[in-house]
Amino acid sequence: MSNNKLRVGVVGMRAIGNTHADVYKNDPGAELVAVCDIDRARADEAAARWGVPAFYSVADLLKSADLDSVSVTTGGPENGGWHYEPVMECFAAGKHVLCEKPISNNIEHARDMVRTAREKGLYFGINLNHRFVPPAERARKWIDEGKLGQLLLINMIMWIDNPNETSPWFHLKALHPHSVDIMRFFCGDVKRVQAFANHAPKADGTPRVCWSNAQINMEFDNGVVGHLTGSYDAAPKHNLERCEVMGTEGRFVLDNCFEELTLFPRRGDELTVIRNSIMGGVMGFNATFKNRIHRWIEQVGAGAPREEIEASGEDGLAVQEVIEAAIKSIEGGTVETVVRTV
Ligand SMILES: NC(=O)c1ccc[n+]([C@@H]2O[C@H](COP(=O)([O-])OP(=O)(O)OC[C@H]3O[C@@H](n4cnc5c(N)ncnc54)[C@H](O)[C@@H]3O)[C@@H](O)[C@H]2O)c1
Repeated sequence: MSNNKLRVGVVGMRAIGNTHADVYKNDPGAELVAVCDIDRARADEAAARWGVPAFYSVADLLKSADLDSVSVTTGGPENGGWHYEPVMECFAAGKHVLCEKPISNNIEHARDMVRTAREKGLYFGINLNHRFVPPAERARKWIDEGKLGQLLLINMIMWIDNPNETSPWFHLKALHPHSVDIMRFFCGDVKRVQAFANHAPKADGTPRVCWSNAQINMEFDNGVVGHLTGSYDAAPKHNLERCEVMGTEGRFVLDNCFEELTLFPRRGDELTVIRNSIMGGVMGFNATFKNRIHRWIEQVGAGAPREEIEASGEDGLAVQEVIEAAIKSIEGGTVETVVRTV
């Protein structure tokens, strides 16, 4: 920390790395110190854009820049295959890390990162940004205040149009950390999973490599039973996600992450509707990055207890364990118990 600002670097300077850099540059609690990409042109371009030095390897970044924390936005296979090495290098150098989702496409790597951060007492956060919006916080408050009574059911939909074909499990591993995180945010840990999936046809009529549509049933530790519908073949423009949670006293529906939240009491006919304001509301999806990264800066800057870090490495791992269980269920036609490793 210098001048009470968290000194940060960003590794992986394409779209999302630049989004992180933009947030750090404009957050009063942070100072963007350096950017890094193994692609020199990208690193140089980002350095010029943000007015900070460029580094072309994580080793050089960690040797030369005075950092408290690093954002790792390197992507890779299934959008998470290149997170492990830079994250572990940062941990070895004693730096806190905010890593993009998925924490990793390799569950052993994900477990190793979470264990290492814990052993070293370093902060580890994952950019599970969808929950960092005022309506999700309000819905969580309704649950805590007992407005829903005892929780019973959750239904979640998350669907986008992503025609990329990287692997059979790309859709589940890359997209659904977000949806499972929202489900866990409201209903807690998942105990068991059962899933079905299919492959949409490509333009030439042959099936996609990717299991691009999935229906996943879940049983939570607290007895809630839930369902996730996921797709990479959907019309995305006006319809990213929907979450509905029901309890003994009522239910809420959270539409499109932050657009509209409605409380339906079980016994009354008056609904509570919270609609995103065009004045000062959540101004587009990029605001979810701003909110999430701001909270990271706030918590790390204040020295929050590790177990209080929101959307932590542990949370990033937990959602990936649910996805691993869903994959096993699809492969084996089984009901799978979710592994708890840390
Ligand atoms: N949270 C969200 O809502 C959200 C949305 C979109 C993408 N993402 C995530 O953001 C991440 C990045 O996405 P993207 O589309 O910008 O990725 P990308 O593949 O376009 O870019 C990754 C960059 O990282 C660099 N890189 C890779 N390994 C490196 C290393 N070891 N050291 C330095 N640089 C390295 C690459 O050269 C490249 O420039 C992915 O994990 C993706 O899942 C999150």
